[in-house]
Amino acid sequence: MITCSAPGKIYIFGEHAVVYGENAICCAVDLRTRVHIEHDESAIISIESVLGKTGIDFEIHPYVSAVIERMREFASIKGIRIKIESDIPVGSGVGSSAAVTVATIAALNRMFDCNLTLEKIAKLGHEVEIQVQGAASPTDTYVSTMGGVFMIPQRKQLKNIECGIVIGNTNVLSSTKELVANVAELRKNYPQIIGPVLSTIGSMSEIGEELVDNSDYISIGKLMDINHGLLDSIGVGSFELSSLVYAARSSGAFGAKITGAGGGGCMVALMDKAKTEAVAGAINEAGGSSIITNATEHGVMVESNL
Ligand code: MEV
Repeated sequence: MITCSAPGKIYIFGEHAVVYGENAICCAVDLRTRVHIEHDESAIISIESVLGKTGIDFEIHPYVSAVIERMREFASIKGIRIKIESDIPVGSGVGSSAAVTVATIAALNRMFDCNLTLEKIAKLGHEVEIQVQGAASPTDTYVSTMGGVFMIPQRKQLKNIECGIVIGNTNVLSSTKELVANVAELRKNYPQIIGPVLSTIGSMSEIGEELVDNSDYISIGKLMDINHGLLDSIGVGSFELSSLVYAARSSGAFGAKITGAGGGGCMVALMDKAKTEAVAGAINEAGGSSIITNATEHGVMVESNL
């Protein structure tokens, strides 16, 4: 059996703006999706996860199904059992779809000796996300493949984030595709207003690059608070997200904001490591589900090959 895993991610700055070519800073986090693959004598393909057990099925397992079809370019894929386990909340802006996509590509790559490089895995992952979602920037799949902290679109690696990270899940599902479309509509209707908001978000990453490299988490937190306000202004905030953001800020976080597409899903806060429990507790009291995590430099990897 081959097991590959890939991490989820948070945006320090720049979601939505990155869709329009603005800069973003994105950080892989130590929540992983594991994909186990073994040969099946019966020549049948099965995919098992918390969502159920299926064959190739674009309704229930769209990303894994699309990966299998795509990987047929490189190998004759039949007779496999795929099992997915994940620490990453699904459909919540923490990169669950990128992680399952990238980990499945890597596992099939190893099982069928396709010799794909990491760059190629990231590229295929992005193409699969576009196929399933209709639109996606390469950010999530790139960061999940490589691990670490990256300035996008340059793909410049920055210093790892070393402070505490707490993610707060509103447990409200949201659709990235719809939210990206809503922002596009708003930008079309009010270009003089939304254009500058998106480019201001992009400027935060430009300033943020040096702050990340200097580990200046206090200043990063201040900019994250501003970034949250700007995300709210383009319609991707919600009462639940802001409740968790304010709870995190008032319990000692350096700063807090939406992470990912918004609308529901997750927020993220940075804090001194000694404050992680206090911030996580405040997020839970405000009605969210907190996850204490860390940045990780480990991207997609083969965990076992027995
Ligand atoms: C979603 O995680 C981030 C967005 O910027 C969309 C994308 O980059 O594809 C909202």
